[in-house]
Amino acid sequence: MKNKRFLNIIENQREKKIDEKFDGTFLDYLEIVNDNPEIAILSHKRLYDSIVSHGLTIMSDSDPRKRKLFDGDGVRVYEYFQNDFFGMDRVLEKVMRFLRSAALRGEESRQVLLLMGPVGAGKSALIEHIKKSIEGEKFYHLKGDPQRGEPLQLIPRGLRSKFEEMLGIKIEGDISPVARYKLLNEYDEKYELFPVQESTFSQRARRGIASVPPMDANSQDVGVLIGSEDISKLDKYSEDDPRVLSLNGAFNVGNRGIVELVEVFKNEIEFLHTVITATQEKRIPSPGKHDMLYFDGVILAHCNEAEWNKFRSEHTNEAILDRIVKVNVPYILELDQEIKIYEKQLKRSDFDSHIAPHTLKIASMFSILSRLRYSQKCDILTKLKIYNGEDVIEKGRVKKIDIKDLRDEAREEGMDGISTRFIMKSIDAALSDSDKNMVTPNAIMESLIRQVKEQVISEEDRDRYLELLQKIIREEYLKILENEIAKAFVAAYEEQAQSLFDTYLDNAECYTTRTTVKDTITKEEREPDEHFMKSIEEQIGIIGSSVDGFRSDVTAYMFAKMRRKEKVNYKSYGPLKEAIEAYLIMSVKDISRIVTKSKSRDDEQRKKYNEMISTLIEEYGYNEDSAEEVLTFAANNLWRDS
Ligand SMILES: Nc1ncnc2c1ncn2[C@@H]1O[C@H](COP(=O)(O)OP(=O)(O)O)[C@@H](O)[C@H]1O
Ligand SMILES: [Mg+2]
Repeated sequence: MKNKRFLNIIENQREKKIDEKFDGTFLDYLEIVNDNPEIAILSHKRLYDSIVSHGLTIMSDSDPRKRKLFDGDGVRVYEYFQNDFFGMDRVLEKVMRFLRSAALRGEESRQVLLLMGPVGAGKSALIEHIKKSIEGEKFYHLKGDPQRGEPLQLIPRGLRSKFEEMLGIKIEGDISPVARYKLLNEYDEKYELFPVQESTFSQRARRGIASVPPMDANSQDVGVLIGSEDISKLDKYSEDDPRVLSLNGAFNVGNRGIVELVEVFKNEIEFLHTVITATQEKRIPSPGKHDMLYFDGVILAHCNEAEWNKFRSEHTNEAILDRIVKVNVPYILELDQEIKIYEKQLKRSDFDSHIAPHTLKIASMFSILSRLRYSQKCDILTKLKIYNGEDVIEKGRVKKIDIKDLRDEAREEGMDGISTRFIMKSIDAALSDSDKNMVTPNAIMESLIRQVKEQVISEEDRDRYLELLQKIIREEYLKILENEIAKAFVAAYEEQAQSLFDTYLDNAECYTTRTTVKDTITKEEREPDEHFMKSIEEQIGIIGSSVDGFRSDVTAYMFAKMRRKEKVNYKSYGPLKEAIEAYLIMSVKDISRIVTKSKSRDDEQRKKYNEMISTLIEEYGYNEDSAEEVLTFAANNLWRDS
């Protein structure tokens, strides 16, 4: 029968599921805990362990971000977040510090973790990912208990310390009234016979993971949080009979695991008040006239800044404030990390279009520049580069601006500006406008400008954003483009650069040590080639009296490196690399301009032009359409004056 193969798979899986799951008495469970006490851990520890089990390392010394962005601090890197979250290292550290303290039963285990930040900063995505880490994990609980309580809570107080000692664990909390009712009426108080069951955490099936969406004031019913009394049963049973309880609220479901409060302050605060207050004692109210219920779960909440400020300003909320550990989740201010966000999002969609080189960089430059505060110390583009860990070269030296000073100047940076969603929308819009199924830097700039005009309401922001796009980013892009085209012309770019570097270094050394240069071919001794050195140095504005210093800096730097047995090449010293590249680019600029602009190329020019196009396609990642578009853009914008 044809259908058999499907049926086989289904039946196999069902059998396996039943086989694997434990189903026994409390007495059996005690043996299991005895063999593996880790089974009986509390929720915060379970979550912490689960995340850390994927790997935890300290950012390595060889990671340039460590020195440039984290002041040499050993940032903890949690593998579990590595492929999904970018540039959030500090945020993740704080979140994990909270969980670690809570796992050790610190005060944090009785507090709410609140992520606060602007829209699209990744709060929801982060909480989703955290919840996913325990999804599918197993846990044991009392069978038929809506709170899925820890079976060890069956042990009466008088025996607890004995069991704790024997098993090497701690036991806290009490069974739910529903479980207690069963114990008394179905098992005749013989708790060793109480059935224990194994389940897996599942948000969809509402086992151990619960999420509370914000509700409008009219439909807010605290039953969503703590369950309710079943009115139909109130005829049959008295009000204090546990059988009337429907413990299906988020805090019942999320016991042992996680309760997420989505955009928490969109709710009327009274709605959450009782629950959040009660978590201090690890107890939650029960519907009707029943006792408080023990609750053990990680409470994760998120909100934006405006909601937080409003909430904080009302002094009736003071008691709750005390129970909240707030972690700011700002936007990313690091260009390379921001780019990764969009690469990730595009990779995960069904999107198969061509994204020309620099497109996501241009888009990310815009979002980051929109988030940065202006500084007295440097222009905004320089600030972006410093925040990205780049060396900014000015007058031949690495510009000495301390990233810490810039950060101190603007403490609240990253809490406003353009969101990741705005950028994604602009990419989508640029795509749907393209009849060639691609997005280019030019197209994304236009799309961003259009979105800003349509969507940014505040006039001040709009003007600022348009200036960023139409001036600063545009000019930067033209520079990038000019370089790229020139580079594409320089065929053996690296070799030429390296040979210029070697020659320069020989000359600079001799100049500095006042010796002569030995010509590699003729073996003749001659004076250092002043003309040659100058032609390199002037590329980065080193002229006149500053040449001496530059030459001795270069020489000292290189020889120090060589002494440490490090390899040196033309990229070793930022300023010199820049000078050499500029020199090379200059030497091909004329020809690249003429060939690019020309409408009627002679044979030689056509050959050059075609070579350049194939370099753009094969080495730089363009396709035919985008290469053509970019060159047309360059011809029209880059060399207008000539
Ligand atoms: N730093 C980041 N790293 C990875 N993805 C991010 C980052 N910031 C935002 N995102 C992505 O942006 C999108 C919007 O984020 P979301 O979690 O909905 O934001 P929020 O809840 O803060 O408004 C998500 O797809 C998320 O994955
Ligand atoms: Mg959200």
